[in-house]
Amino acid sequence: MAFREYKIGSRMFGLAFGTSMFITLYMPAVDIQNVSATSIAMDRQLSFGRVGGFSYEDPFLQGWGKPITVQISQDPKTGASIESTRAFVYEKDVPFPNGIRHPRILGKVPAAVSKSKGRINEASEDQGAVFIVREVIESGVMVPYIENATATRGWSPTATLAKASDSQRLLVGKGKIMFVREGCWWCHTLLPEQTQDWQYFGAPPMLGDFNGESPTAFGSDRKAPDLTHVGSRNSA
Ligand code: HEC
Repeated sequence: MAFREYKIGSRMFGLAFGTSMFITLYMPAVDIQNVSATSIAMDRQLSFGRVGGFSYEDPFLQGWGKPITVQISQDPKTGASIESTRAFVYEKDVPFPNGIRHPRILGKVPAAVSKSKGRINEASEDQGAVFIVREVIESGVMVPYIENATATRGWSPTATLAKASDSQRLLVGKGKIMFVREGCWWCHTLLPEQTQDWQYFGAPPMLGDFNGESPTAFGSDRKAPDLTHVGSRNSA
């Protein structure tokens, strides 16, 4: 039996498959760790949550396992008034986004600060957590980091939600799942390009604005206007 051919064929297939996975999965992962996440990237992933596209956690794209973004002006623990703060509430069992699960995705310095000052390592999905995005000056450079306010300030998800009135429960992040589910990405992008687009569609994203977001909805070619800032340029 000509078994040799099968052996050669399957090895060639294995080599081609392995090489393509190395290029598509490993190389971008190494690349992105060399980029420091911006506060926009942190805001995006914390408001979208981990489940933003086709995944086993939400196979029918119903928006399961979404965090709730709120704006609060009272400290959930002490009740004292604080400056208006955007908080990302992950109730029990809501999956954390990639930057919390794998902090190195945030880039070297933001990851280190998020762990030391922000104590994100102590957050647990079993208990839920509340996150906020903060900035600190590290050797003369402004570094954004994620703070696990449950550990640092004792803000529990329930107490934080109680401090947010209904109008303050932002719908942030809810549109992304719709965008993916309804196939808007087929024609629209969420990536204004740094060309003349800029003047009409609003500021283009910078390198580091997407660390930890999954999936990104760049689209491959664009058949319709970019929708990134559509809410601010059109009236409801
Ligand atoms: C088959 C391609 C296609 C798909 C799919 C599609 N759109 Fe569009 N959309 C267009 C085109 C083309 C325009 C521009 C129409 C014009 O300017 O006359 C547009 C315009 C828009 C605009 C106005 C944009 C602006 O800058 O004023 C919005 C908002 C929009 N679409 C939302 C959506 C949403 C939400 C979905 C998914 C539910 C979606 N579109 C899916 C083709 C598409």
